[in-house]
Amino acid sequence: MTAAAPAALTTEQIGFLARAVSRAPSVHNSQPWQLRVRGTEVDLLMRHGVELRRQDPFGRDRLLSCGAALTDLELAVRTLGRDCHVEYRDDEDVVATVTIGRPHPASARDFALYHAIARRRSHRRAFFHSRVPEGVRTAVAAAGETTGVHVVEPGRLDKLAELLGFATRVLRDDRGYQRELELWTAHTHGWNAIGDGVPEDALSPEALPVAGLVRTATPVPDDVVLAGRLAAENLLVVCTDTDTRADHLAAGVTLQRVWLTATAKALVGSVITQPLHLTGFRARLASELALPGVPQAIFRYGYPAVPAAPSPRLALDEMFPEGPTGGLR
Ligand SMILES: Cc1cc2nc3c(=O)[nH]c(=O)nc-3n(C[C@H](O)[C@H](O)[C@H](O)COP(=O)(O)O)c2cc1C
Repeated sequence: MTAAAPAALTTEQIGFLARAVSRAPSVHNSQPWQLRVRGTEVDLLMRHGVELRRQDPFGRDRLLSCGAALTDLELAVRTLGRDCHVEYRDDEDVVATVTIGRPHPASARDFALYHAIARRRSHRRAFFHSRVPEGVRTAVAAAGETTGVHVVEPGRLDKLAELLGFATRVLRDDRGYQRELELWTAHTHGWNAIGDGVPEDALSPEALPVAGLVRTATPVPDDVVLAGRLAAENLLVVCTDTDTRADHLAAGVTLQRVWLTATAKALVGSVITQPLHLTGFRARLASELALPGVPQAIFRYGYPAVPAAPSPRLALDEMFPEGPTGGLR
């Protein structure tokens, strides 16, 4: 006698997965993902038409964003009480396929991370002054370690401050970059407000310079002052052994596991990738900070001093390119 095949997903279950994916962080809140459900297989697709030609010309951050969405998708499947297998795909359109298996109880850790998905948001302001205890910092960093991906606390904050200060000045004066950023921050309010882009409120002038998105009015503190501000934060760099598309996806998966782990521990944070796109920046960062690989993202975190507002999201139906899903909410 052969065992029955795993049951296909119901519309409610598909909505549950889509909601988790939609809450993932993404570069400029561009939400570059879509879903296609085929019985017990869920494809995470690249959503086209939202490329950031200036900020992200090679699509690295788009893949990192899809990696973050993949973490949410896997956690949601496990929270539904189903086993699953995740396969990275080397395809321009299909980023990964999650094959849903038999009933399997979710672990306490999967539940905790799943419940952090809706609470996580980018917190670009300064943190409450107390430093996070070492045991907690170790647990947050360890949450993302996987084959080929390393999560490390950077030393040499003087060098980091120097490099970030330099990048802030370059980005501030880059008209093409500023124009693209303006497009992605201007349309989240007012008559043409839509469900993507970064809301103005998320980019408060009180945000730590270089922590947020650099605009023409972003102040650049002196390197020594900046190094002091960085020392009051908790920083992690996500690095990969090599620099392939699969590495970018894996870095995104790791980044989100780290971020959700921090969220589950009542911490908040934000991610910095903008400077890494400047020519030569990644290599200099790796060598001056003696990093164990190619830096893909910097994550800063701490205890919140003030709450951060949530960002908008596209309607769930927009996540399904292949037609009606029964009016997901
Ligand atoms: C790959 C990636 C790169 C990002 N880079 C930056 C960045 O350089 N600066 C920044 O302030 N936020 C950055 N973000 C955060 C996004 O702007 C944020 O996730 C998005 O606006 C949605 O808001 P939320 O995180 O509050 O849900 C990045 C996020 C991802 C996933």
